[in-house]
Amino acid sequence: TVDAVRARDLAGRHVVVSAGGTHEALDPVRFLGNASSGRQGLALAQAAALRGARVTLVAANVALPIPSGLEVVRVTSTADLAEAMFALQADADALVMAAAPADFTPVDPAVGKIKKDGDGGLTVAFKQTTDVLATLSHDRPRDQVIVGFAAETAADDAELLQLGRAKLARKGCDLLVLNNVSGGAVFGSDANAITIIDATGPVASASGDKTVIAHHIWDAVVASKGDL
Ligand code: CTP
Ligand code: CA
Repeated sequence: TVDAVRARDLAGRHVVVSAGGTHEALDPVRFLGNASSGRQGLALAQAAALRGARVTLVAANVALPIPSGLEVVRVTSTADLAEAMFALQADADALVMAAAPADFTPVDPAVGKIKKDGDGGLTVAFKQTTDVLATLSHDRPRDQVIVGFAAETAADDAELLQLGRAKLARKGCDLLVLNNVSGGAVFGSDANAITIIDATGPVASASGDKTVIAHHIWDAVVASKGDL
């Protein structure tokens, strides 16, 4: 089967995969989060380990069980995630940003619990977080493959590709894994349909469960370098 052919093609490589969704503290007990389960990142990490890689998983608030055999760095916020990824970059043959970082973080998280004030509402000021993928991609200490993800709400494949190409160019990553979330539920689900693009256009499409998708992504990583 294909699995026999793929076996151990990442042997001797160190790959770093981020997974999950970040939490940005509003106060000591509350945060702004997102619905990322971490499933696709876990599937990528496990698939790479099966193919022989040394795998570091940077896990942001992943509630699912983490497969054994991975080195795990747990992070909470986008700032933590950035710090962990930047620290790991120099030793990585490939980095995959499957995590969903928050785009915004409170300018000034409250030191104590936020209290209600009469029947008034609440306004919180946010600032943009560090773009981890763009920073990794634009600031490379060595030859390595960098992969990003983009979930877009696109009317059709043409629009999805157009959004994807613009995002890949903006981020500066080598590969971007695109999925169209306009119709279906991807967050937390087992199935997925993706198109992988590089700067020249689509390089692969796949659908299936997140394990199948993960192997297609590693195939594209390996192919992008000839022999990673
Ligand atoms: N990403 C990142 N750091 C951020 C935000 C996003 O590294 N602060 C990464 C994600 O992990 C993903 C890729 O960038 O691999 C694309 O994320 P996406 O949310 O689609 O891109 P954004 O640049 O945040 O654009 P948008 O305004 O469409 O959300
Ligand atoms: Ca975003």
